[in-house]
Amino acid sequence: MEQKLNNNSGNLKNIKIPQGKLGILTPGMGAVATTLYAGVEAIKLGLAKPIGSYTQMGKLRLGKRSEKRYKKVKDLVPLASLDQIVFGGWDLFPENAYEAATKAKVLDQQLLQNQSIKESLSKISPMSAVFDNSYVKNLNGPNVKKYKNKMEAAELLRQDIKDFIKKNNLDRAVMVWCASTEVYNPIKPVHSSLESFEEGLRNNDPDISPSQIYTYAAIKERVPYVNGSPNVSVEIPAIQELAKEMRVPISGSDFKTGQTLMKTIVAPGLRHRLLGVAGWYSTNILGNRDGEVLDDPGSFRSKEVSKTGVLEDILSKEDYPELYGDLYHLVKINYYPPKGDNKEGWDNIDIFGWLGAPMQIKINFLCRDSILAAPVALDLALFSDLAMRADMHGIQEWLSFYLKAPMVGPGLRAENDLSIQLLKLENTLRFFTNEEIINHLGLVHYGVAEE
Ligand SMILES: NC(=O)c1ccc[n+]([C@@H]2O[C@H](COP(=O)([O-])OP(=O)(O)OC[C@H]3O[C@@H](n4cnc5c(N)ncnc54)[C@H](O)[C@@H]3O)[C@@H](O)[C@H]2O)c1
Repeated sequence: MEQKLNNNSGNLKNIKIPQGKLGILTPGMGAVATTLYAGVEAIKLGLAKPIGSYTQMGKLRLGKRSEKRYKKVKDLVPLASLDQIVFGGWDLFPENAYEAATKAKVLDQQLLQNQSIKESLSKISPMSAVFDNSYVKNLNGPNVKKYKNKMEAAELLRQDIKDFIKKNNLDRAVMVWCASTEVYNPIKPVHSSLESFEEGLRNNDPDISPSQIYTYAAIKERVPYVNGSPNVSVEIPAIQELAKEMRVPISGSDFKTGQTLMKTIVAPGLRHRLLGVAGWYSTNILGNRDGEVLDDPGSFRSKEVSKTGVLEDILSKEDYPELYGDLYHLVKINYYPPKGDNKEGWDNIDIFGWLGAPMQIKINFLCRDSILAAPVALDLALFSDLAMRADMHGIQEWLSFYLKAPMVGPGLRAENDLSIQLLKLENTLRFFTNEEIINHLGLVHYGVAEE
């Protein structure tokens, strides 16, 4: 139903109202996915607060500062409510979401034992996965589909989506990739157009990865797709062509959570103050299944690409050769089982200031990986659904705020500064609601600009 809503804040653009239920489908039902499912249940029950979620807690200013108008994001734009969400997913391990969450050991056991949470998670059993061990070397599981070729695999996934929507009486769905990081698979000729990609699906082309098959299936079903990993999936021209053709929003890649989140907070500050950076050494230890997968050099290479690009982009050699021309940037991830999901990251940053004097910054972040990722996954799902209802399609740059390697239009440079990414997100929400775009100029007080 297309209609303008009265949100007590001016008119909305033509956005369909979020009627009925929204399915959030996650390929992968591991640590991130089950922390998301359980968290939403706990919040609905009033047992926890949605900390870290901008859609649930964020506020933004509207109009001039003098108007003193602030509004919660969820009161400004028509987002699906948590009560309208139904979760589902695929995994190569057959455990239901309660069993998988227990294994992942992210959540407090007391919370997981809550009768209502336990019951709703136990009802979510994974659909069988499209999986290929040559893309994730350190995993093997029994709950996998059999198919003659990759086009048939895509058709099986499309049928899963249709069945899930029908069975749960959903109005619509979004897909958020929460499965493992695949081996690095840069763009090849088969990815260059939709025609060559579909030909490749039929011919079982080895360069087409499982995540690309899920992406294709989602978009063919007009289900918006978010890539929470560094896999090359929404990045390929064939998928972007399909997203445009089907008028479906896509975004990626890789949830911006621990160390990279810190980088996109600290590095822009150093750049804005014109402080030089000679070196940035980052290392992590983590012991969850994600860490085990990343122990394989092929999967680590995917992560390395998404993690290193951020800094090189913010501390640009081209813009400031004298400050960043010799930047030495190194990222390591080590699998260390005793840590579980409690990742520990260290950053040693060698900087230099006035007259070239050297200084150092050390960051030791003892984070909870999936605790940081769950609200990011929730926001990306809800905003992708909003984008779909607003008829936005193709790459959603305004969601860069959440992503380590944000996608942008062809030939454009990605914006990696977290505060500029937030400004872009806020201004997009203002745009949706016909509110004034805020540029923070504020010269009216000096008599040189008009209100
Ligand atoms: N936790 C974070 O903070 C964070 C941050 C950024 C990105 N990520 C990415 O999110 C993803 C999920 O992380 P996690 O910690 O939940 O990992 P996890 O290992 O706990 O869960 C991933 C699940 O995906 C399943 N899987 C693998 N390939 C699959 C396929 N083809 N189809 C269906 N299921 C498949 C695995 O069996 C596993 O259960 C990873 O790619 C990770 O790199 C996580």
